[in-house]
Amino acid sequence: EELRQECLNCRKCGLCQTRTNVVFGVGKEDAEVMFIGEGPGQQEDLKGEPFVGRSGQLLDKLMATVDLFRDRNIYIANTVKCRPPQNRDPEQEEIAACMGYLRNQVALIRPKIIVCVGRIAAMTLIQPDYKVTRQHGEWIQKNGVWMMGTFHPAALLRNPYNTKNGFADFLSLREKIQELGIKI
Ligand code: URA
Repeated sequence: EELRQECLNCRKCGLCQTRTNVVFGVGKEDAEVMFIGEGPGQQEDLKGEPFVGRSGQLLDKLMATVDLFRDRNIYIANTVKCRPPQNRDPEQEEIAACMGYLRNQVALIRPKIIVCVGRIAAMTLIQPDYKVTRQHGEWIQKNGVWMMGTFHPAALLRNPYNTKNGFADFLSLREKIQELGIKI
């Protein structure tokens, strides 16, 4: 709650000037599975909650296929907590300014699995030159946490050709959850 309050008052980068709401995160704070997206879009900025627009509806559907629900067994946050104007990619300085919040969220929630949703999250958390089309669904272990990158639902909406591959990543997630003996 302290971290949330600090984040809600943040003025560490220029995005604070154009945001409506800080989008801190949502879900179970004792979740063993955490999803990390890119940054708020328009709907998220208006509501103060991650993934509530069209992409979010698709993400919710994909999660539901493997029994994951934001009010039950996961936590969702973003790489940057404030909306970049016109939904442009967040800049390196904005990501760097926001990183402490994400780091502390992960430290407090202590997930066993982190799913990076889209290129920006995967580049920030897995590897700077991460390529989603080539590396999606690959598991790596970092500091004792299992991590995987997958397609951003906005990319799937733009290019449904990848939906099957995106779905396969969720099936792989379900297997990893079972393999680790995580109760969901
Ligand atoms: N896209 C993201 O990456 N995060 C959101 O919260 C919404 C859309």
